[in-house]
Amino acid sequence: MRVNFTVNGRQQEADDVWEGESLLYVLRERMGLPGSKNACEQGECGSCTVRLDGVPVCACLVAAGQVQDREVVTVEGLADYAKHREDAHPGGGCASGACGTTLDAAKRWQSKPTDGQTGEAVELAPIQQAFIDAGAVQCGFCTPGLLVAADELLENTPSPSDQDIREALSGNLCRCTGYEKILDAVRLAAARQEEAVQS
Ligand code: FES
Ligand code: FES
Repeated sequence: MRVNFTVNGRQQEADDVWEGESLLYVLRERMGLPGSKNACEQGECGSCTVRLDGVPVCACLVAAGQVQDREVVTVEGLADYAKHREDAHPGGGCASGACGTTLDAAKRWQSKPTDGQTGEAVELAPIQQAFIDAGAVQCGFCTPGLLVAADELLENTPSPSDQDIREALSGNLCRCTGYEKILDAVRLAAARQEEAVQS
């Protein structure tokens, strides 16, 4: 079967997709996007988290056929997506939590030809920078999924409580950090976002 969908703002086509093939397989093996990690393939670790029409999902549990005509954002497109959100909502519309990014707005978004696919030479998304600054990355295997989930949290809940953060990231397992630094990173990104809205 052929599947047409949008990945990181660009229209893509995958041919000869077999019935049981997962979105994760298509992204990693056919589209050359290895950022979404493959750990459990059972929906238990969250390392494969991507956004499907704005909603965080485990790409290993989504059949490729289900994404026909839909929008996928992977960690490779996160910085560009965050930039788009900022540009589309000057003054921090999204950051204030008032609207989020609508599907229509997402459909109008086009990533630059080189960055959405390779992730090279791209500015980091605020949440990525916060993970670095807070020391929230060790082996890094869980990091892409956490970044996608945390970015979605901050889009919709700009001033999350610790409980909100724990809930939003509860599907993402990390074997290295003990989670405290990850919580710190999300708190840091939220504080910076708040500061940007106020300035
Ligand atoms: S690889 Fe998808 S949840 Fe673990
Ligand atoms: S940093 Fe190693 S699994 Fe999270």
